[in-house]
Amino acid sequence: MNSLVKKCIVQFAFLFLVFNVSAQLNTINEQLYRPRIHFTPAANWMNDPNGMVFYKGVYHLFYQHNPGAPVWGPMHWGHATSKDLIHWKHLPIGIYPDSLGTIFSGSAVVDYNNTSGFGKGTQVPLVAIYTQHNMDGEKAGRDDYQNQSISVSLDEAKTWKTFSGNPVIKTPHLKDFRDPKVFWYAANKTWIMSLAVGPNIEFYSSPNLKIWKKESEVGGAGMGVHDGNWECPDLLSFDDHGKKVWVLIVNVNPGAPNKGSGTQYFVGDFDGHQFTPLSREAKWLDYGPDNYAGVTWSNTGARIILGGWMSNWLYANSVPTEKWRNGLTIPRDLSLVKIGKDYRVASKPIKELASIAYNNVNLKNIKLDKTFVISDTIKKATIPCRINLSLLKAQNIELVLSNNKGEQLIIGYDAKANQYFIDRTKAGRSEFYPAFAAVHTAPRFSTSAQLDMSLVIDVASVELFADGGLSVMTEIFFPTEAFSKFELRSADKTTVHHFYYTGLKSIL
Ligand code: FRU
Repeated sequence: MNSLVKKCIVQFAFLFLVFNVSAQLNTINEQLYRPRIHFTPAANWMNDPNGMVFYKGVYHLFYQHNPGAPVWGPMHWGHATSKDLIHWKHLPIGIYPDSLGTIFSGSAVVDYNNTSGFGKGTQVPLVAIYTQHNMDGEKAGRDDYQNQSISVSLDEAKTWKTFSGNPVIKTPHLKDFRDPKVFWYAANKTWIMSLAVGPNIEFYSSPNLKIWKKESEVGGAGMGVHDGNWECPDLLSFDDHGKKVWVLIVNVNPGAPNKGSGTQYFVGDFDGHQFTPLSREAKWLDYGPDNYAGVTWSNTGARIILGGWMSNWLYANSVPTEKWRNGLTIPRDLSLVKIGKDYRVASKPIKELASIAYNNVNLKNIKLDKTFVISDTIKKATIPCRINLSLLKAQNIELVLSNNKGEQLIIGYDAKANQYFIDRTKAGRSEFYPAFAAVHTAPRFSTSAQLDMSLVIDVASVELFADGGLSVMTEIFFPTEAFSKFELRSADKTTVHHFYYTGLKSIL
């Protein structure tokens, strides 16, 4: 054999090995980390949920999507639909970049009154409102590369046509000018848009979704956290015994309590023109590191449902899931809770989760004088699952998920510090971002003696809703082998008054 042929064979064998090993790794990661009960893109990159709208019994989810690679890049609006917010159907890309730029975050509304004039016959227009980001303009160091545009669908969100008059709001020559979230303000018969503009949220009004007038702005130094840009706002109204209470959601990156990206909110009043916060101090919707850019579905009536991006800009581009990256949190129902004179927003996993529950087990009075191995008692305890537990007294408690490799994730309550925590320091892979291996905490806001923890556990994420959703944490993790052992322990030897386990059927 001559040396050239030999070289070729060696090179071919090497490439074959590399491809095979990386294909195997891909399959392993696919099996280990692809969420079983959360939405993830079929392939490639996802960040913020966008254009979430409920119409004719269908929940639409659009999302920041790079269809060409599993890393952030030219943004399109990926599209999926669901009838129950749990089972998702992947659909063709909703909105593509055009000469005005790529498609950044935004919202979608049902224009029932045809204010836009886009409707034809009986077809109600759905209108998407989003930021167009001109990558060339950004590269050239210009300041006019973010503008707001609209697209219309007359076939229930299947296809979209861009408006010939785009952009509908031109940049005021500010680099950060994005993420329009629009709702119908019935009292003034007008559309209201919240827009993230540098350190502020600006409000615009429009009679027809095409012509917009700036009404006011709120924010700046002294209001909330400003370690990074304000992004993805949402203005919501709740009913408190006949009184309207408004909540302004403002995502910020970085600056979250447990580092990186997070969702702050302000409770206040909105008069159709201006938002006035009751307090300029930030409250946080979720203290875990992995719930960002959350906004709510439009057209859901009194129900307020939030979906967030289950990742963090600190490491979203390098998490070890090579085929696809990142997903959606479990959608949550939001409500307003009064504690003393203070309002807080509580989040609860949507009730629809009950439809995939099986193998329910209720246990009473589990004495934790020694570690209680749940997986010994509940033989078929597997992930994904839900676990709810309650203590009559707020005492130390830990739920430990582990595997045969000695990796573990600990979710608990620390009575002395009066805080919940999730410890992912030994929960598996973190080489992609060493500070990923950390303990995160959330203050306990409830003043009740009784403590409740409700958990939604998937193969690579946990969502903690404590005390009826007053303290919330969302965390992702990457064990090298699936977690299979569940244990409860307590430094206080407390008693778990009520323990509920239910398996959740995979949606894959
Ligand atoms: C938030 C964000 C938005 C922007 C989008 C770009 O995560 O930075 O402000 O519109 O992502 O993908």
